[in-house]
Amino acid sequence: MRLLFFGPPGAGKGTQAKKVAQEFQIVHISTGDILRDAVSKGTELGKMAKAIMDRGELVSDEIMNSLVKEKLEELDSFILDGYPRTLDQAKFLDQATKELQKEIDAAVLIDVSEEEIVKRISNRRVCPNCGKVYNLITLQPKEDEKCDVCGTKLIQRDDDKEEVVRERYKVYKKNTEPVIEYYRKNNKIITIDGAQNVEDVTKELFNILRSFNKQ
Ligand code: AP5
Repeated sequence: MRLLFFGPPGAGKGTQAKKVAQEFQIVHISTGDILRDAVSKGTELGKMAKAIMDRGELVSDEIMNSLVKEKLEELDSFILDGYPRTLDQAKFLDQATKELQKEIDAAVLIDVSEEEIVKRISNRRVCPNCGKVYNLITLQPKEDEKCDVCGTKLIQRDDDKEEVVRERYKVYKKNTEPVIEYYRKNNKIITIDGAQNVEDVTKELFNILRSFNKQ
């Protein structure tokens, strides 16, 4: 199965993509995680991307396209989470998947309102060591702000400040909603109500993908 995951910042794309990847045995590719890993390792890509991400803007299409193409060449089934985010990226992806004969089966849109997103993101904490994502309201760590898996002190992402989240939301509306329309025209969009709790979103998603997998 080859899937795209769309939704505004903080909609729950990463949370759900990890569950789907485990259940359906497919690889989860998050372009945000790839960039954050480059930032934490201090690579050239990371140095260039850090300031852009901290402002809530987008890294260039050229860089993102070549990062993703490299991954697609290696994998047969995958979830792309956070890509494509612009029409140019979507057109590039179309071309690349045709060339590689790995066309996309469906695009999942996790739909959530701006106010819910701001609330969720202000309570998100992440483990800087193993990457596990928590929420101080809906997915609390067992011990005060420490990772359940590795015990590392949890942190807040630099781009999770309210003003940056609102900017990321604006960027999403302007650049990514047209991409969703592009996939809607090709009948590839599956819309899920992301305002439900995590378990209900997962249940709905698994049911749709299971029936889809049988077709
Ligand atoms: P990226 O990391 O992709 O950020 P994003 O799309 O803004 O998404 P998030 O990671 O913030 O949220 P999510 O939807 O995964 O939510 P999560 O599951 O964590 O990109 C970051 C930056 O990188 C971009 O701004 C850009 O600069 C750059 N970039 C990346 N890709 C790019 C590209 N293709 N082109 C150009 N630039 C690119 O959940 C959020 C919180 O809510 C968590 O605390 C979670 O526990 C909680 N939660 C999840 N689901 C629920 C629920 N149903 N109910 C209650 N709480 C929930």
